[in-house]
Amino acid sequence: MTITINDPAVAATNSIPDVPPIPVETAGGRRIVTGDRPTGPLHIGHYLGTLSNRVQLLEDGCPVTVVIADYQVITDRDGTGPLRDRVRTLIAEYLAAGIDPDRSVIFAHSLVPALNQLLLPFLSLVSDAELNRNPTVKAEALASRRSMSALLLTYPVHQAADILGQHGTLVPVGKDQLPHVELTRLIARRFNDRYGTVFAEPEALLSTTPAVQGIDGAKMSKTRGNTIPLGATEDETAAILRSARSDGLRRITFDPVARPQVANLLTIVAALTGDDPRQVADQVGDGGAAALKALATDVINESLRELRRRRAELLTDVGYLDGVLLDGSARATATAVRTLDQVRRAMGMNYFGRAGASPAGPFRQYR
Ligand code: TRP
Repeated sequence: MTITINDPAVAATNSIPDVPPIPVETAGGRRIVTGDRPTGPLHIGHYLGTLSNRVQLLEDGCPVTVVIADYQVITDRDGTGPLRDRVRTLIAEYLAAGIDPDRSVIFAHSLVPALNQLLLPFLSLVSDAELNRNPTVKAEALASRRSMSALLLTYPVHQAADILGQHGTLVPVGKDQLPHVELTRLIARRFNDRYGTVFAEPEALLSTTPAVQGIDGAKMSKTRGNTIPLGATEDETAAILRSARSDGLRRITFDPVARPQVANLLTIVAALTGDDPRQVADQVGDGGAAALKALATDVINESLRELRRRRAELLTDVGYLDGVLLDGSARATATAVRTLDQVRRAMGMNYFGRAGASPAGPFRQYR
């Protein structure tokens, strides 16, 4: 009986794709791996933090791999939500922000089975005490108001598989992700000690932009609904900023401790214009919160106008967006299959390694 695979995604990811893996030796030897959870549209915090970093690294000639971490969506919630739309929107936002699909790889966990398989040996390399100590996981468990699931506890190990499976050496992330990069280094080190050197220890790259807060003063987050989404219209942006928390003092000053909400708006404006936040404060002077909000609205809308135009245009062509995901996932699979092969060999799982014992058909990849 012959089984025909009609779904190109299945066909592309369950066999070794025809595309070459990304070369391990690259510009300066740096291979960038980073990612996002498809839990909602990206916002100005992503734009100022990781997105601009990624585009800069691409411009420096480093290959950038972006993981759409769909299996991480279910770490802190029940159900996956409108995942297909969210993944497409995320891809449109990456491309609109300047992540060039010809020089980068955008893939989803669920389309790269070989990556997920790396989780098994990696899980053997960490203790439950180490996992339970992870401050980011603890905070996420608390915020989810659910009991800790086994996936929430272990997803940092899966994230190590994202990074090491692509032989990433540099991981641009926010501060909350540092424990995961530390764990990834630990796993690489322990694997190498136990089975022989396969992995380099990747480093984290923190954005130089100060973290921006949400418009309510809490951490800006898709799930808190306190963001300025990249995809908001200009009017929506104005409305969001009008509702931002501030204080009643007329004179605008940059004082992150005493006036965190005002400082946050100044930080956003300054990051977008390249000015110092104190300079921006002087510019607003005695205009009060209303003038500051009006300035922030203008600066944000102006800075995002071109991105928003491209984003809207890209969202009308889902065939193209799906093609970017499929192509990226095929390339990420090629790299992950090769890594998994190195891992299997190191672990003595290369059962068909003898001459004359080459398996045929779908098992070709296990030679
Ligand atoms: N955990 C990251 C976040 O919530 C997303 C992510 C998944 C990631 N895989 C990754 C980041 C690999 C860097 C590298 O933002």
